[in-house]
Amino acid sequence: MAMALWLLFSPFLFLSVCANTQTKVTDNPADELVAVLNANRTAHKSSSLADNQGLACVALQYIKAYQGDCKAVGESKKPSDSEFAETFAPNCGVDASTLTPITGRLLGCRSKYVEPSKAFSMLMESQKSLDILYNKNHTEVGAATTGTDGGGPYFWCVLFSSGKHNSSFVPQGGVAKISRPGCFSGANDECSGADDLSRPGRMWLYAVTALIVAEYAFRL
Ligand SMILES: *[C@@H]1O[C@H](CO)[C@@H](O)[C@H](O)[C@H]1NC(C)=O
Ligand SMILES: *[C@@H]1O[C@H](CO)[C@@H](O)[C@H](O)[C@H]1NC(C)=O
Ligand SMILES: *[C@@H]1O[C@H](CO)[C@@H](O)[C@H](O)[C@H]1NC(C)=O
Repeated sequence: MAMALWLLFSPFLFLSVCANTQTKVTDNPADELVAVLNANRTAHKSSSLADNQGLACVALQYIKAYQGDCKAVGESKKPSDSEFAETFAPNCGVDASTLTPITGRLLGCRSKYVEPSKAFSMLMESQKSLDILYNKNHTEVGAATTGTDGGGPYFWCVLFSSGKHNSSFVPQGGVAKISRPGCFSGANDECSGADDLSRPGRMWLYAVTALIVAEYAFRL
């Protein structure tokens, strides 16, 4: 009994609980999604793709263009191609002259937050997605995720490009502008957006798992 009480009030126990929480918070779900995606590609004998932070930051701006409207994802409404150069790249500090063709994009939206590996399966639910995943033209990838107004719905976006890793989607000064809320891959950014993301998702009217998949060639 005395032992149990000691454990209960032990400052060491408290510290170790804190430390655990910390490890979790410093994870970046977008980086994890890229890791899962590349593991799947290599298991499929496709190349591992370079994680491009400029491209990933653009993926986060792409999500933000939806302004939390999950239904628009289901209806395949999408930002116009010109927004890449006019809005997304500048928001990330990415030099618009370094944009290269987008060879694939995946966007998913869900009322509740899911772990990156689950998000990957969710994004891969259609054959079209798998075709995009294994497309041989991709050389690089960028992923992003964010909730909306401190809760659901949660968006996941993956953009693929055929550019050369260190000369496409190049951010000025070498570092893409971090914009919160939301997390994007490739920036060694310990995204504490996880704080926000791990809150239980409230039910949303558009509680659908919606997904659009599209490919397009980007021309400057
Ligand atoms: C790759 O992902 C797809 C879609 O989630 C899944 O069906 C497949 O089993 C995965 N492959 C490997 C080797 O994990
Ligand atoms: C790869 O790119 C070439 C040239 O743009 C295109 O013709 C081809 O269809 C693409 N391949 C795939 C698998 O998308
Ligand atoms: C870019 O990458 C290529 C090959 O991956 C390398 O030869 C070149 O030096 C790199 N350039 C810069 C500026 O890092």
